[in-house]
Amino acid sequence: MTPQEKLQRCYQSVRAKTNFTPAIALILGSGLGDFAENITVEQTIAYQEIEGFPVSTVRGHKGRFIFGTLGGVPVVAMQGRVHYYEGYTMQDVVLPTRLMGLLGAKVLFLTNAAGGVNQSFSSGDFMLIEDQISCFVPSPLIGANLEELGTRFPDMTTIYDKPLRETIANTASSLSIPLQKGVYIQLSGPQFETPAEVRMCGLLGADAAGMSTACEAIAAHHMGLRVCGISCISNMAAGISGQPLTHQEVDETAARVAPQFKQLITSSIIAIGNTL
Ligand code: HPA
Repeated sequence: MTPQEKLQRCYQSVRAKTNFTPAIALILGSGLGDFAENITVEQTIAYQEIEGFPVSTVRGHKGRFIFGTLGGVPVVAMQGRVHYYEGYTMQDVVLPTRLMGLLGAKVLFLTNAAGGVNQSFSSGDFMLIEDQISCFVPSPLIGANLEELGTRFPDMTTIYDKPLRETIANTASSLSIPLQKGVYIQLSGPQFETPAEVRMCGLLGADAAGMSTACEAIAAHHMGLRVCGISCISNMAAGISGQPLTHQEVDETAARVAPQFKQLITSSIIAIGNTL
């Protein structure tokens, strides 16, 4: 089955269950899935219920779409995403993103837990993603171009939409939530980086490192969605604090900052929804 056929099959499978049309699609990162509590839920669809859908294997990733509203704005949220390190092809990794675009979303709001590379960051900070480095993982656009989605050679000058970034920055400041800004680098994982790799990331201009997001941003931008994203700095990247890294630390930090994170995301989505 071609990626396009697979995408169409998933689309038909979701459309057979709901005719909900989201305005904003949201991907919830590691430990950030509780945000879904803020949504007035209309319907949930478990990934297993969708024919041909890649199902995540990471603990703490619930694996379902939540359709509902946030302050009246129709949203679809992914509670749990699919990662490249699980063994899926990049086309499969971005299938859910494309699916949410096909369902009608105009904006993709990405979130993730990431390691702080910029030494002025602290664990628990939020970082507005301004640009990204994805060239250490394969492009999700490799293979026959899906012409009905976008062009073969898409421009990537401004992946992260400027007006959306401004709205999020204004929202953070009105809530008095400090917001760092920077460049996200996607590495394959699943191992955390070595200190030498973290130094390399810094030299290349990255401020935060993670194992997701950039590929989804490319696929969304390719098909014309407006993209924005926030990283939760769940830990300082390897070698900066001298402490060994664990997935537990990632989850604990995410849980600690979850209330502020929920506030920032909810208010940003409502503010963005009002501009659509
Ligand atoms: N590196 C890569 N991905 C991550 C990290 C990290 O330090 N923390 C959370 N996700």
